[in-house]
Amino acid sequence: MAALSGCALLLAAALLLSAPAATEAYDSLDPNGNITIKWDLKEWTPDGYVAMVTIYNCCKGGVISTFNQDPANAASSFQISVGLSGTTNKTVKLPRNFTLKTPGPGYTCGRATVVRPTKFLIGDGRRTTQALMTWNVTCTYSQFLAQKTPTCCVALSSFYNNTIVGCPTCSCGCQNNNTHPGSCVNPNSPYLQSAIDGPGKYTGQPLVQCTSHMCPVKVHWHVKLNYKDYWRVKVTITNFNYRMNYTDWNLVVQHPNFNNITKLFSFNYKPLSPYGGRINDSAMFWGMKFYNDLLNQAGPFGNAQTEILLQKDPETFTFEKGWAFPRRVYFNGDNCVMPPPDAYPWLPNASPPMKQPWTLELLVFWTALAALLAYYV
Ligand SMILES: *[C@@H]1O[C@H](CO)[C@@H](O)[C@H](O)[C@H]1NC(C)=O
Ligand SMILES: *[C@@H]1O[C@H](CO)[C@@H](O)[C@H](O)[C@H]1NC(C)=O
Ligand SMILES: *[C@@H]1O[C@H](CO)[C@@H](O)[C@H](O)[C@H]1NC(C)=O
Ligand SMILES: *[C@@H]1O[C@H](CO)[C@@H](O)[C@H](O)[C@H]1NC(C)=O
Ligand SMILES: *[C@@H]1O[C@H](CO)[C@@H](O)[C@H](O)[C@H]1NC(C)=O
Ligand SMILES: *[C@@H]1O[C@H](CO)[C@@H](O)[C@H](O)[C@H]1NC(C)=O
Ligand SMILES: *[C@@H]1O[C@H](CO)[C@@H](O)[C@H](O)[C@H]1NC(C)=O
Ligand SMILES: *[C@@H]1O[C@H](CO)[C@@H](O)[C@H](O)[C@H]1NC(C)=O
Ligand SMILES: *[C@@H]1O[C@H](CO)[C@@H](O)[C@H](O)[C@H]1NC(C)=O
Repeated sequence: MAALSGCALLLAAALLLSAPAATEAYDSLDPNGNITIKWDLKEWTPDGYVAMVTIYNCCKGGVISTFNQDPANAASSFQISVGLSGTTNKTVKLPRNFTLKTPGPGYTCGRATVVRPTKFLIGDGRRTTQALMTWNVTCTYSQFLAQKTPTCCVALSSFYNNTIVGCPTCSCGCQNNNTHPGSCVNPNSPYLQSAIDGPGKYTGQPLVQCTSHMCPVKVHWHVKLNYKDYWRVKVTITNFNYRMNYTDWNLVVQHPNFNNITKLFSFNYKPLSPYGGRINDSAMFWGMKFYNDLLNQAGPFGNAQTEILLQKDPETFTFEKGWAFPRRVYFNGDNCVMPPPDAYPWLPNASPPMKQPWTLELLVFWTALAALLAYYV
């Protein structure tokens, strides 16, 4: 039996095009895509074989492998030795039970089917050799399978309105002391530690801090500052799960201005083009190694933050109608629950010209930064 379970195939969110609905807001990115895994048998060993495993995504703009995230330690292909699985193409046992350990559950994999052996170019590139045997496995992502309930929610705020629009109540569940006592725990509870160590500890069951949204993860998008040519957003990811350190977490955000990210602090980032290059409005963020690539369990260190500086496109830029807020947010590939659009922080009604924080200090800073940027571009 192929020992695949030990082999953590880390794949990031599968983002797939669903026809972009023209200009409609709050649409479009669906974490939905198939992944093909191809096995090329390179040689037989006394009790099994050595195979080259390659992971593909089926569709343009589709899957991002963790290669983005960590090219040194992740690969979209790797070699694996498998024992006790037959030693000829007649007796070989195809691996049967594939589990993709994505940064979240949700992939179901079909049966392996034997396909025409892959041909490889070798040596000087003029000769070819072929795999002893090749098989494909297709894995399908389903948010439904991934989670019956969401695991993440979004809170919004901005400098132009004091209201913090929190995660919608009961985004990921409701506090219900009658039917589920102990379904969450308060940070100042004297029983905190015993609850963390309590039932469910070894099953990986989340133990969340009591909040109105009850989500293990909250993403807070704060529109922080407005300058003449730039604007600045602060994004905070908070972990409310006392039983989980998220290693190699990733965040995918869709925002119409992401084609113009000018500077990013504390996170890594890669632009994504979910519609195959036509629209460039999404980006994947992940932590910096040894700094915040681990999102600590709930508590004082259970958060990670970045600030993003975006250049305004005068044609599209506006603070109206929630434009400054993201359209979709995914944490580890799972869709985060957004507040309803009509709850977004409003612009002050009287709409006098926006007060801009033009202190001298800032002016100097931004001029210097702009010069620096001009220099690098
Ligand atoms: C994914 O695979 C399933 C079954 O293998 C198929 O029905 C579906 O159309 C595929 N989806 C895409 C987007 O290729
Ligand atoms: C099995 O291997 C033999 C020789 O190694 C080859 O002739 C035969 O076509 C292979 N069969 C399959 C199904 O790949
Ligand atoms: C596949 O693995 C999962 C989890 O390890 C297990 O629950 C399931 O029964 C397995 N299925 C088969 C067909 O072996
Ligand atoms: C197997 O997967 C590879 C990679 O996606 C693909 O190029 C090839 O056409 C697939 N073969 C079959 C028979 O589906
Ligand atoms: C559940 O209990 C906590 C503290 O014991 C309390 O703060 C919270 O309001 C209660 N929730 C409900 C829905 O009764
Ligand atoms: C998370 O990491 C911290 C320190 O790295 C460790 O003390 C803690 O036990 C870990 N928590 C879990 C749930 O693994
Ligand atoms: C998307 O935007 C980034 C800047 O944020 C830029 O580097 C990249 O080339 C753009 N890609 C496309 C396809 O326009
Ligand atoms: C970013 O915005 C500036 C100003 O509007 C514009 O000139 C530039 O083309 C934009 N860059 C991209 C990649 O859209
Ligand atoms: C701030 O936004 C909220 C909606 O989230 C709205 O009810 C409130 O009136 C706004 N405040 C101002 C000063 O416009």
